[in-house]
Amino acid sequence: MTILENNLAFSRRSFLMGSIAAGVFSPKIIFAKSKDEDFIDNLIANMSLEEKAGQLSIFADNTRSNSIAINPAQAKVGKDALISRIKNGEIGALFSAKGAKGAREYQKIAITQTKSKIPLIFGADIIHGCTTQFPIPLGESASFDIDLCERTAKMAAFEATAVGIQWTFAPMVDVARDQRWGRVAEGSGEDPYLGIKLAQARVKGFQGNDLKSEYSVLSCPKHFAAYGAVQGGMDYNTTEMSEATLRDLHLPPFKAAFDAGALSVMSSFNDISGVPSTANPHLLTDILRDEWGFKGLVVSDYTADDELIHHGYAADGRDAAKKSILAGCDMSMESGLYNKYLPDLVKSGEVPLKVVDESVRRVLRVKQALGLFENPYRSLNEARELKDQRTKEAIALSREAARKSAVLLKNENNILPLPKTGKKIALIGPFASDKYQTLGTWTIFPDFDNAVTLEKGLRAQISSQDLIKTAKGSHITEAMDGGIEEAVQTAKWADVVVLCVGEPEKFSGESQSRVSITIPQPQQELAEAIAKTGKPVVVVLSHGRALELSGAVKNADAILCAWFLGSEHGNGLADLIFGDYSPQGRLPVSFPHFSGQQPYYYNHRITGRPQQPGQERFYKARYIETDNTALYSFGHGLTYSEIEYGKVELSSPKIGMNEDLFASCIITNKGNRKVREAVQLYIHDMVASITRPIRELKAFELVEIDAGQSKKVEFRIGAPELGFVHNDLKHYPEAGKFKLWIAPSSVTGEAVEFELL
Ligand code: NOJ
Repeated sequence: MTILENNLAFSRRSFLMGSIAAGVFSPKIIFAKSKDEDFIDNLIANMSLEEKAGQLSIFADNTRSNSIAINPAQAKVGKDALISRIKNGEIGALFSAKGAKGAREYQKIAITQTKSKIPLIFGADIIHGCTTQFPIPLGESASFDIDLCERTAKMAAFEATAVGIQWTFAPMVDVARDQRWGRVAEGSGEDPYLGIKLAQARVKGFQGNDLKSEYSVLSCPKHFAAYGAVQGGMDYNTTEMSEATLRDLHLPPFKAAFDAGALSVMSSFNDISGVPSTANPHLLTDILRDEWGFKGLVVSDYTADDELIHHGYAADGRDAAKKSILAGCDMSMESGLYNKYLPDLVKSGEVPLKVVDESVRRVLRVKQALGLFENPYRSLNEARELKDQRTKEAIALSREAARKSAVLLKNENNILPLPKTGKKIALIGPFASDKYQTLGTWTIFPDFDNAVTLEKGLRAQISSQDLIKTAKGSHITEAMDGGIEEAVQTAKWADVVVLCVGEPEKFSGESQSRVSITIPQPQQELAEAIAKTGKPVVVVLSHGRALELSGAVKNADAILCAWFLGSEHGNGLADLIFGDYSPQGRLPVSFPHFSGQQPYYYNHRITGRPQQPGQERFYKARYIETDNTALYSFGHGLTYSEIEYGKVELSSPKIGMNEDLFASCIITNKGNRKVREAVQLYIHDMVASITRPIRELKAFELVEIDAGQSKKVEFRIGAPELGFVHNDLKHYPEAGKFKLWIAPSSVTGEAVEFELL
C-alpha cells in the first residue's frame, strides 16, 4: 500500500467509524442463538423476585486483602455476611477487589450453593492499566494514536483478567470542555471526534475480538450522559443543554463505543436539564435501546439511584428504585435499593414484572456473552496471577505510551533535546523524584515501587551521574524551608535546569474540581527564583488537566507536558528529553491564558461580535484581560523537526450530497530528523441553520516522515461528515459553503473553501 492508499484506507475507516455511522468492527458477541435465549428464559421463569433483584445488584467487595477503598464509605459487609448474601442470591456482581483465589471462592458459592446457580461478574475500575500503568487517559489521548490506545487497553485487560477481573468501568468517554473539572483527566478531552476514535479503540482493546476469551474484559463506557458538561466544572453538578447539543456533542462517543461492541454502560451522577441520568427514561430507553438498539446492561454509578433523593427527583429509596428501574437502569450499584424494594414494587403492581424480567435478561445475556455459564471461572486463574503482571511487553508498552503522550508546547532555540554528555543538568522541583506523582488518578492497584521517576529515567541514560544534581526546591502545595536557596545554588552549578512543577495527582480525578487551574504558589515562586539565575530552563509539567501557565513557567525556554505518564513516566520522558525519540503528542485540551476563561475549547461557536487578536477590545466578545484565544490550543504540539504544510488541494471545489471530497496536502520535513507528525483536518460550516463551531476536527493521521522527505497526505470527506444534529434531532448536512484546513493544530493553516450542493 502506498502512503496515499494507506491514508485513503485510513480516512475511509475514519469515515465509517464516525459519529453518525455504524461501527465496522464485528466483535464475536454471541447471545442471539435461540438455544441461549431458551436457557435464559428458563432461568428467569424459575427465579424468585428476590433473586431477580439480586441479579440487578452490584456491591463493592471489601472482604479481601486486595480490596480497595474508593468511593464514599458505605456500611462494611464482613466476609460471613457477604457469603450469606451470595448464597441467598442477593448479589449479581462484585467490584473493587482483585485476586483470583478470593473470586473463585465466591464464584464457587454462587454456582453451587444458590438456588439458580448463576455466576457472579467481578468488576473494577481498570482505567489506564492494572499493575503496569499507562498514562492517564487524557495524557494518552494526546498521543492521537488510535493503535496505541487499543494496545494499552488490551494490555490492561490482559493484566486485569490475570487478577480475577472480568469487567472494567472504562473507558470514560465524557467530552470535557471545562478544565476546572478534575475528571477531564479520565477521558479524551474537549473534542468529540477524537473522543469517538479513542472510545472505539479502547473498547476494542478491552473486549478484544472475543468477549468469551480468558483475556478480555467487558467494557463499560461512562458516564452516560453529559457528565463532562457539569456546570462550572464542579463535579457532580447539574447540566443544562438542548437535546440537539446533547446529541451533537456528548452522545457520539457513547454511540461509537457501542458500535465497537461495548456491552455495558454506566449512568452518570448528573442531571440533564433537571432529569438525573440514572432515572432518565428518554436517555436510557428511548435513545439507548429504542433508537440505538443497545443490547447490553446499564449499571448505575455508585449509589446514583439513592442520590435521586438528594436531587429532589425521588421521594425516598422506594421511589428512587422504582424510577430507576422504570427508566431502564438495569443494575443498581452499592445502594442496595433494588434488593430492598424491587420485590415489593412488583408485588404492588407499581413496577411491571416484565420490566424486571427484561433487566434480568440483559444482565444474564451479558454473563452469557462473557462465557460465564460455560466457564464461571474464566479469568479467575491463580496460575496467571503473578506470571501475567509487568511482563516485558507491558513495561515496554508503558514506556512507548509515555513518550508518545508527552506534548512539547514550546522549544525555543531548540533547547531540547539535551545531550547525554557534556552538559550539567539541575533537576529541580517537587515532581522530579517523587514516585507517588507518576501514576495519576484512578490507579486502584498502584505499584509505586516500580514507578520510574524523571530522576531515575534521566540517570539511567546520562553518561555520568555527576552531570545531574537534584534539588526539590518546594513541596507541592507548601513552601519548603531553605528549598529555594538550595535550588538556586543547584541551578547556578548547572548548564541547564529541568524544572518539574505542576499540580499534584490528587487535584484531578473524581470530586477534584478547581476554581483556579494554576500551579500552586510555592512552586511558582520557585520557578521565578530559578528564572532569575539566567540559566536556560526546560519545564516538565505534571498535571491532570490543561493549566493556566504564568510568569517564569510560561516564559521558560521549553515546556513539556508530562501529565502523569504511568509506570514508565521517567523513562518515557528521558527518551524525549535526550532525543532518542521526537515528541508526537498534541493537546487534547486547550491551555487558556487565564482560569477565568473556562469553559474554553477550540471548537466554540462564533459570536456576532468576534474579536481578532490584536484588535481593539471594545464592543467585541472578549475579556478585559485577554484575547478570546488559548495560550496553546487543541491539537498543538511540536516535534524535534520542522514540518512544512503545502497548499491544500481539493478533488473538486463543489461536491454533491452523495459525493466524496478528497482533500490533500504535501507535508515536508525541513528538519534533520525523522518524526511522527499528527496531521489534522478541520472544517467550518460557514452558514447553517444552527451556527457551527469555528473549526471542527474531522480526521487526523499520524504520518511518519524522514528528514528532508515530502509526503502527500490525503483525506476523504463525505457529505454525512459535514452534517450536524438539528433541532428536529436528526443528523444531516446542509448545502452551502465550507472552509477546510489541513494543519498541525486547531488554530493554524490556510483555509480553502468548497461547496456542498
Ligand atoms: C464512581 C465513579 O464516578 C465511577 O467512574 C466509578 O466507576 C464508580 N465510582 C465505581 O468505582
